[in-house]
Parts: sequence; C-alpha cells; structure tokens
Amino acid sequence: MDRVKSKSNRGSFWDIKSNLASTIETPWKAVSELLMYAVKPLAWIYLKMFCGVKIGKGYKFYGLPRVFRYRKSRIVIGECFENMNRWDSNPIGINHPTIICTWSSNAIIKIGNDVGISGGSMVAAKNIEIGDETLIGANTIIIDTDFHPLESLKRRYETNNVRSKGIVIGKNVFIGASCIILKGSKIPDNAIVPAGSVVRSNTKF
Ligand SMILES: CC(C)(COP(=O)(O)OP(=O)(O)OC[C@H]1O[C@@H](n2cnc3c(N)ncnc32)[C@H](O)[C@@H]1OP(=O)(O)O)[C@@H](O)C(=O)NCCC(=O)NCCS
Repeated sequence: MDRVKSKSNRGSFWDIKSNLASTIETPWKAVSELLMYAVKPLAWIYLKMFCGVKIGKGYKFYGLPRVFRYRKSRIVIGECFENMNRWDSNPIGINHPTIICTWSSNAIIKIGNDVGISGGSMVAAKNIEIGDETLIGANTIIIDTDFHPLESLKRRYETNNVRSKGIVIGKNVFIGASCIILKGSKIPDNAIVPAGSVVRSNTKF
C-alpha cells in the first residue's frame, strides 16, 4: 500500500525511502533538490536580513523569489514554505520568479505553514492572507488593489482614490495555474480554484 506523504512522516524512514525511489525515476528532480540546498543560506540572507521577511523553519526555495517590502509593512511566512522560482523548477514552466510585494507601509502579507507557490506574484496594499497547506499553481497573480483610480479623468496621474480590499485565502485551498485573484476575494477552506480562473469579491464557492 502506498504511504501517503504527510507532515507526520516527513523525514521518516518511509519518507526518505520514497524520496530515493522517486529520484531514480526522475533524476532531474535530484539536480533541482541539490540546487535548492545550495541556495538555502542565500535565501536566509536575502529574505531575513536584506528584505526583513519573517519566515519559519523548513523552507525550500527552488531559485530565489523577488521581495519588495514597503518600509514598515509586514511579510510573515510560516514553516515549511515551498517556493518554485527557476523557470524549470515546475513542469509547467515558471514565467518569472515569485514576486512578493507590499504596496503601502501598513500592508501585511501573511502566508501560513506548508504553503506551496510556483512563480506568479502577490501585491498587497492592505492585506493578503493565505491559510496553511494551500497550494498556488504556476504563474498565479494575487493583487488586493486596482493600482490606478477607476475615474477616467484622474486615471493617468492620480495616486489617491485607488481602491483596495484585502484578500483571504483559506486553508488547504488548491488554486490552479494562471489564476488571477482580485481585491476582496475570500476563498473558503478546502476550495478548488480551476486553472485560469478570475476570482473577485463576489465569486461564489
Ligand atoms: C478544476 C479541476 C481540478 C477540475 O477537474 P475535474 O473535476 O476533472 O474537471 P472536469 O474536467 O470533469 O470538469 C468539471 C466541470 O468544471 C469545469 N471546469 C474544469 N476546469 C475548468 C477551468 N479550468 N475553468 C473553467 N471551468 C472548468 C468543466 O467545464 C466542468 O463543467 P460542467 O460540469 O458544467 O461540464 C481541473 O480542471 C483544474 O483546473 N485543475 C488544475 C490543474 C492545475 O492548474 N494544477 C496546478 C499546476 S502548477
């Protein structure tokens, strides 16, 4: 019987055995895994020291993300974060490394434990919250702001009156590849968001 990979058996004899078995079948993953370990100290320096991100233990970065943290804003990432950034670190192909950006001094990005993200970007002017064990498919965009005012006369140069509303993504959500999650979205625990979806504040699940 197949043993289900789970948090409780991570690092166990069965976990190591199944990792070894899959390495024989998929040798390119071994290269990727080695590169991940090589980048670990760099990730620590870049995220924690350079960008001021709070991040828990057990992270895996396949290439480095780009972090743009507005001064005084907060970016908090839980334990066992898995993040694909190299173009070939995901079989679908990553368009660009994940961009994690706070767009105002009081913005908050909070990512739970055991979250996986492949490429894509998230920009919070207010707040983006992602629950534990949520998976975010390749090249998905999560933005809680319109970036520009909607009134036509002010649109080009005005930086006030830009609408923003926080995003809450629940626990154990599966978001398919190339989705766009817009301001005010609330995705309940265990939901599935089909590939290529656009989610907005009144999307029903
Ligand atoms: C959502 C998903 C899981 C549904 O799988 P499924 O249950 O086998 O889906 P089916 O093909 O039987 O379709 C079920 C219904 O959902 C609709 N649907 C499925 N995928 C859809 C999509 N991406 N966009 C819009 N509608 C979709 C189908 O049209 C169908 O509707 P109907 O019942 O009215 O005919 C799958 O389509 C999907 O998007 N997987 C995500 C894969 C992915 O991106 N992985 C991440 C890689 S990094």
